[in-house]
Amino acid sequence: MYTGLQHAHSGLAYLALLALILVILWSLVGALTGREYQEKDRKIALIAFILCHVQLLVGLILYFVSPLGYSLLSGGGAMADAAARLTALEHPLINIIAIVLITIGYSRAKKLESSKAKFRSIYMLYAVGLVLILSRIPWGSWLGN
Ligand code: HEM
Repeated sequence: MYTGLQHAHSGLAYLALLALILVILWSLVGALTGREYQEKDRKIALIAFILCHVQLLVGLILYFVSPLGYSLLSGGGAMADAAARLTALEHPLINIIAIVLITIGYSRAKKLESSKAKFRSIYMLYAVGLVLILSRIPWGSWLGN
């Protein structure tokens, strides 16, 4: 089960990051060209939203089955080790905050009136979320193998 979840989390990371980048660019172009926000734009933003939420669910389960997750916190000494601190604390915490911001960006866009404000809500909050996610990826273990 652990290996399956690890592969799913690693593979989904590519999809979620790619979807976030594409939605940010899509919404930025939408705002800059001043076109009307349509149902199609909401659905495109929804793709990245769903991928991030699936990643959150897989990550939460992984956190309790991985030797690099919660178990490191209970063993003590994890805070003194940068690699352990990253996977056991910083990566989960910052990513949850990032996904909350992405959720706000998507939900706010539904309530706002003007098309420009809708596009802006998506590209701004998705971009802040993306930067937070990128800042706490265990790059060495992910792309290193
Ligand atoms: C969009 C959000 C997220 C992205 C893009 C992401 C991405 C990644 C990546 C690329 C890795 C390294 C995978 C590897 O070495 O093969 C990783 C590892 C990990 N992630 Fe996430 N993650 C996200 C959210 C979360 C959340 C919310 C949690 C927990 C609550 C979490 C828990 C973990 C754990 C425990 C590991 C270490 C797994 C292991 O190798 O044993 N992740 N994540």
